[in-house]
Amino acid sequence: MEVGFLGLGIMGKAMAVNLLRHGFGVTVWNRTLSKCQELMEQGASVGETPAAVINKCKYTIAMLSDPSAALSVVFDKDGVLEQICSGKGYVDMSTVDAETSSKISEAITKKGGYFLEAPVSGSKKPAEDGQLVILAAGEKALYDEMVPAFDVLGKKSFFLGEVGNGAKFKLVVNMIMGSMMNALSEGLCLADRSGLSQQTLLDVLDLGAIANPMFKLKGPAMIKGSYPPAFPLKHQQKDMRLALALGDENAVSMPIAAASNEAFKKARSLGLGDLDFSAVFEAVKSAKDSDSA
Ligand SMILES: NC(=O)c1ccc[n+]([C@@H]2O[C@H](COP(=O)([O-])OP(=O)(O)OC[C@H]3O[C@@H](n4cnc5c(N)ncnc54)[C@H](OP(=O)(O)O)[C@@H]3O)[C@@H](O)[C@H]2O)c1
Repeated sequence: MEVGFLGLGIMGKAMAVNLLRHGFGVTVWNRTLSKCQELMEQGASVGETPAAVINKCKYTIAMLSDPSAALSVVFDKDGVLEQICSGKGYVDMSTVDAETSSKISEAITKKGGYFLEAPVSGSKKPAEDGQLVILAAGEKALYDEMVPAFDVLGKKSFFLGEVGNGAKFKLVVNMIMGSMMNALSEGLCLADRSGLSQQTLLDVLDLGAIANPMFKLKGPAMIKGSYPPAFPLKHQQKDMRLALALGDENAVSMPIAAASNEAFKKARSLGLGDLDFSAVFEAVKSAKDSDSA
């Protein structure tokens, strides 16, 4: 199976490498073209533009940062729309809102192409290990054709019905995750200020009903103040913002998510946006510092 791949960030690179490793022919494009070099060395071909990749491949996957990137790659000059046509499938795995996804879907379908949104749950390591959870929605026939690729990229894929459902699902999941990260940050901070051991707190959490892989993975690094980006904080804040907008649309009150979003915004204003989202701990600590000053 020959697939195109647009966007070689943390996730896109790991996913494209995985496809290559499993025998897929992969043609890559990235806005910063130099990032294609490493993939080329591993056997990928390179397309000069998104349109060139679409022209070459029956199926193209995109993994881009946010709604504006997802729209730009489709609608701008040399973009996906210039070459998409009947018989070609476009699968956007970026985390965006349902409105962005619908806009892309409508434009692609109008040109005769097939569209699937397929955001993922899971971060850098699951992407490297092919252990993502794929939340797909849109054209069922395209979903069925993508199953061999999804089987390589993920441990489980869901087909969730009409376009927008995958996007919304992903935002709900990340809203919960962002709030949990804030709760952990406040807990670590409170333990420390109360003269308790942060490591013992992690040990206790890990033995009880609220044990989870995220606390186990991120907690020890947070105590050390180490935040190498697996999921960039700026993207987590984007997801909180989009989830809160979904809450607005549906008149769902979400005070915990709203407060968490404020902490992520604060972290961005402190220049932490490119670090891992667990760096929100630094914003929580700095807020507690100013309280006690
Ligand atoms: N990292 C995770 O743990 C994780 C997990 C699940 C879902 N996601 C979602 O997956 C998506 C990608 O995340 P990531 O962590 O791989 O992000 P990333 O490392 O920041 O990569 C973002 C990618 O988008 C490209 N891009 C940004 N703006 C663009 C524009 N205007 N036009 C064209 N390309 C543009 C970047 O190109 P350049 O290289 O040129 O900047 C890069 O290829 C995001 O929607 C994120 O929310 C991430």
